[in-house]
Amino acid sequence: MARTVVITGFMGCGKSKVARALAASLNLAMVDLDESITARTGRTPAQLINEDGERAFRIVESETLRDVLHSRVAGVVALGGGAWIEAANREVINEYGCASVWLDVPFEVCWSRIETAGEDRPLGKTRDQAFALYERRRPVYELANIHVSVSGREALDDLVATIKACI
Ligand code: S3P
Repeated sequence: MARTVVITGFMGCGKSKVARALAASLNLAMVDLDESITARTGRTPAQLINEDGERAFRIVESETLRDVLHSRVAGVVALGGGAWIEAANREVINEYGCASVWLDVPFEVCWSRIETAGEDRPLGKTRDQAFALYERRRPVYELANIHVSVSGREALDDLVATIKACI
């Protein structure tokens, strides 16, 4: 499997966890885009959004994504929840011939994880704000090559096996 796999989906859908497990099972390196952004800028995505605004964050996010894909170090990339929403990022992902996987998780499952994670998610501060974003983004996540419906109750190994069967 030579194609880089990118994992997308809403905040709290489990992108990083699934990407890490998938990469381990394929014996490939995994890169978490949000962590790469933090390493590059010295600030977390939440800090960048809070301090510089979402547009400025998206520029850094796109640059980081391009560099990650260009370096070809990662077999599996966990995107941030908004990275796939930017058309330019989807183009880059397609240019690099990646397989894109959407983890389609019900809003309530995402929201309960967002609420309990205690992480700063400036674009998902309230349930209403997060739900509006979830609904707005769904048609764009649908553009991913591979659609994996996740209830949130599956064993991680089963999810990995499902994705491996599709890529
Ligand atoms: C964002 C999701 C976050 C992070 C940033 C913006 C979004 O990542 O990139 O806060 O626009 O949905 P997670 O999806 O890992 O929470």
